[in-house]
Amino acid sequence: MLADAPLLFFDSGVGGLSVLGPTRVLLPNAPIVYAADNAGYPYGTKSEEELAQRVPALLERLVERFAPRLAVMACNTASTIALDHVREALDIPVVGTVPAIKPAAEISKTRVIGVLGTEATVRQPYVDDLTARFAADCRVVRHGSAALVNLAEAKLRGDPVSAGAVRAAIAPLIESASGMDVMVLACTHFPLLAEELAEAAPGVTQVDGGAGIARRIGFLTRGQAWPAEPSEGTAIFTRDPDPRLIPALDRFGLTLVDSL
Ligand code: DGL
Repeated sequence: MLADAPLLFFDSGVGGLSVLGPTRVLLPNAPIVYAADNAGYPYGTKSEEELAQRVPALLERLVERFAPRLAVMACNTASTIALDHVREALDIPVVGTVPAIKPAAEISKTRVIGVLGTEATVRQPYVDDLTARFAADCRVVRHGSAALVNLAEAKLRGDPVSAGAVRAAIAPLIESASGMDVMVLACTHFPLLAEELAEAAPGVTQVDGGAGIARRIGFLTRGQAWPAEPSEGTAIFTRDPDPRLIPALDRFGLTLVDSL
């Protein structure tokens, strides 16, 4: 394994930065390629068939170009739909992002858990399975919101995000999940709105998979060589990105921007 072989992160947009953040803390010298399929954004309103074709094909191109040591599907929608297809298509380890229902069930006292994801994620059998295995004694209420994904993108472009818009986006969940004490952020865009969500759902603990994924990456790359110093990360887009995203990318160490 070459020391400069990167970790490849993949999402439809900026959501995967919520996974990249904790990974950079754990592995500060890891070379990073962050790929955003902004030409295919948003994923949450797409069909299973479309994503199961699109995502593995893109990952194959990215692996060919960057020769990463490991790929991270930093997107719940792509992971819950296309993880098996991606693993079949690639010959490197692939880490997926799955809704953090297990840790949520471990801490919920009221046994009412909200799962906030994209419309595509919350309808997946994968979520039924996680619920049955880890939260069978809980009331698990799911809500899919495309508006919240757009708000997270807007926030990272530097646009103001109103508390009212976030409140409206999760209102159906708050209404139907009375007594909810834990909310699973089952879309990687949503931890980017943690403060706004805390204001809209006060007293509700937010759980997401970012730190667990970082630990998993650390485990899968244990013993491997890394460069002696941190390097500039690359952000790669499937079509020209909005230049207003540049400062946010910069904050995550992604100082080189290119297109696929
Ligand atoms: N960030 C993605 C997720 O975790 C998807 C957002 C979208 O493109 O709809 O589900």
